[in-house]
Amino acid sequence: MGPSSLSFTILLLLGTSTASLSDYAPTLTACPDTSLTRTFTATSQALNPSESDFVAAREGSVIPQNWQTWLGNGSDIGYNTTAFTSFARVGLAFSGGGYRASQFGAGVISAFDGRNATAVAAGTGGLLQVATYFGGLSGGSWLTAGLYMNDFPMAQDMVLGSQPGWLLQEDLLDPDVLDTVQYYSAIDQSVDAKAQAGFNVTIADGWARALSYHFLSGTNLSNFFDTSSHGAGQLWSQIANAEFFTSHQAPFPLVVLDTNGTFDITTEAIPLDLSVYEVSPFEFASFDPDISAAAELSYIGTSLLGGVPVDNTSCVTGFDQAGFVIGTSSNIFASLLGTEAGDAEISLVQTLLGEPVESLSPANAAVSKWPNPFRGLAPSFVDSDDEELELIDGGSNGENIPLNPLLVKAREVDVIVAVDGSADTDDNWPNGVSLLFSAERLSTILGDTHQQLPELPSSTDDFVDQGLNQRPTFFGCNSTDTPLIIYVPNSPPLTGDAPYTNAPTTQLQFEVNETQNILDQAYANTIGGFVPNANTPDPNWGRCLQCAAVDRSRSKASPTIERSAFCATCFSQYCYDPSNLSSSSELPNRKLTYAGPAASLSL
Ligand SMILES: *[C@@H]1O[C@H](CO)[C@@H](O)[C@H](O)[C@H]1NC(C)=O
Ligand SMILES: *[C@@H]1O[C@H](CO)[C@@H](O)[C@H](O)[C@H]1NC(C)=O
Ligand SMILES: *[C@@H]1O[C@H](CO)[C@@H](O)[C@H](O)[C@H]1NC(C)=O
Ligand SMILES: *[C@@H]1O[C@H](CO)[C@@H](O)[C@H](O)[C@H]1NC(C)=O
Ligand SMILES: *[C@@H]1O[C@H](CO)[C@@H](O)[C@H](O)[C@H]1NC(C)=O
Ligand SMILES: *[C@@H]1O[C@H](CO)[C@@H](O)[C@H](O)[C@H]1NC(C)=O
Ligand SMILES: *[C@@H]1O[C@H](CO)[C@@H](O)[C@H](O)[C@H]1NC(C)=O
Ligand SMILES: *[C@@H]1O[C@H](CO)[C@@H](O)[C@H](O)[C@H]1NC(C)=O
Ligand SMILES: *[C@@H]1O[C@H](CO)[C@@H](O)[C@H](O)[C@H]1NC(C)=O
Ligand SMILES: *[C@@H]1O[C@H](CO)[C@@H](O)[C@H](O)[C@H]1NC(C)=O
Repeated sequence: MGPSSLSFTILLLLGTSTASLSDYAPTLTACPDTSLTRTFTATSQALNPSESDFVAAREGSVIPQNWQTWLGNGSDIGYNTTAFTSFARVGLAFSGGGYRASQFGAGVISAFDGRNATAVAAGTGGLLQVATYFGGLSGGSWLTAGLYMNDFPMAQDMVLGSQPGWLLQEDLLDPDVLDTVQYYSAIDQSVDAKAQAGFNVTIADGWARALSYHFLSGTNLSNFFDTSSHGAGQLWSQIANAEFFTSHQAPFPLVVLDTNGTFDITTEAIPLDLSVYEVSPFEFASFDPDISAAAELSYIGTSLLGGVPVDNTSCVTGFDQAGFVIGTSSNIFASLLGTEAGDAEISLVQTLLGEPVESLSPANAAVSKWPNPFRGLAPSFVDSDDEELELIDGGSNGENIPLNPLLVKAREVDVIVAVDGSADTDDNWPNGVSLLFSAERLSTILGDTHQQLPELPSSTDDFVDQGLNQRPTFFGCNSTDTPLIIYVPNSPPLTGDAPYTNAPTTQLQFEVNETQNILDQAYANTIGGFVPNANTPDPNWGRCLQCAAVDRSRSKASPTIERSAFCATCFSQYCYDPSNLSSSSELPNRKLTYAGPAASLSL
């Protein structure tokens, strides 16, 4: 064998060990001896033992030290933390809202990150490190992937760093005009590989692949238009093997997916009875009372009946592509159906993807298809007979903040930080409607399986009139039977500067300087709190946030510890108090109109 054929062999070997676009296709394998599903009941909901072990380890050996790092001995906020029997269990929840929500969420994370010295100095940096859970949905799931599929980096580095960042300067659907054909051809290769492996593919698979270029690893500006793997083959279940995860250095991540309905979002009330699912690194599950079941994530895609493989020689692995998890959680295509522009967009993407997606009906092309792991498992479950689940954006039922998994009673979360980047008002600010939808679904559909939300304003008008969508608010401060909610809405700069964080959801391309502005503004507001009738940050806000995060540790201690005078003062400013309402007039000079470029029409 001559030197050239030797190097040829080496190249071949290297070639086979390198990921490729076709690694998006799931593969068949022998089934394991272990059960692929588990069921529980509405009244006795059980967590996956691996999740329980993770939580016990993080709360046993990591979080106590992190509270100590954040709060010291508690004296700065008037407590002696040594006297707490245990610490409050904290969950973070990042809403949907496309690139706006992911960038806003990233700026908020910087402000909560104990690794960021400026945030630590402000008193807010450290909250991320004491959190047990991390929920993401739609644009918030992109943020989740950015963190969990990339070794949990710091936010500034994740979005705009050398690693090489999210590359939002390349339009998500229509990057560099000259190279769009190559781009769709590479996306097609992955989608076709999955179809050839026997799976039903849709637009959602193309969408999944496009998102992978930005939020998974392997893509940079130099290789953007080549045919390297661009994150194909990177699996959500692989989070469980990452070093930062096995050493319990990050909260436990949960992503929300919704079921497609047969409703018209533009004219009809949103049906809250459609099933809601969650994806963890270990399983695909629903704690909805009529399902109460979970399936092992690494074998999701296997055809199951009654919880066991239809053919136990052919189980499926590799279906849980990280791109497909976040592509499903952010699949808004079904909501475009039925309008002329929406139908045209769907049909255009079908054409770009070619067969087999092109010949699907628009209704079928628009949803994400997941083999139904709960077929024949839960008889009262409406999709019990279906071979496939048709899943869509996790915020489709109006619950645009991923509170659902954090409120599962078995998770016993005490404090939820609800980060809301929804575009509800004409200027793309939230108006609290997501919380109201969650409260309604919790009280009418879920009942005993989940904790309820604390008292909220009764309408979005009240939310806006009371200024609760323009500054952080604590809900349920004195409630003993709900979690305390720390609501962090995307809001105009407290300084009165022109806002960049309220870009329209349809904006799929951001220059680096726009992204930097968004990160900076989200960060500044999140370390700033508010001072009534002023445009200056609240110097006490960081410690007030500490008061809220730690409050349930105090109220659950035995004997109960009084709220400190310092924290009581914070609470009179930041708590929602139905008997002493605040007003938006206390928040002067806020500019509401987006200062960024006019949204470019995609495609
Ligand atoms: C596969 O199914 C066959 C027939 O039902 C059974 O005999 C066998 O034990 C199963 N194998 C595994 C690994 O479950
Ligand atoms: C906390 O530490 C400070 C400074 O070391 C000390 O003065 C204070 O007494 C301590 N407080 C508690 C509650 O231990
Ligand atoms: C803090 O609480 C611990 C445990 O209850 C107690 O031993 C200690 O004396 C307290 N420290 C102060 C300064 O009160
Ligand atoms: C801390 O966060 C701010 C705001 O996002 C950012 O400008 C700065 O670079 C961060 N520091 C580090 C070390 O990442
Ligand atoms: C694909 O869709 C067809 C028709 O809708 C269905 O019969 C089949 O089971 C699906 N394939 C898989 C792998 O679920
Ligand atoms: C881009 O990524 C490819 C594949 O990981 C790598 O080989 C290349 O060096 C990277 N280019 C730059 C400029 O970082
Ligand atoms: C998905 O929902 C839309 C309405 O929101 C409906 O028109 C469409 O038929 C549904 N698709 C499937 C495959 O059921
Ligand atoms: C970003 O930079 C471009 C070109 O230098 C400039 O035209 C634009 O105004 C800047 N945008 C922002 C948001 O700063
Ligand atoms: C009512 O709320 C304001 C802040 O909005 C606070 O300053 C005041 O102390 C509160 N009054 C009472 C009685 O709690
Ligand atoms: C919570 O309880 C404290 C002490 O009883 C009281 O002063 C405060 O007004 C209450 N706050 C709310 C929001 O109900």
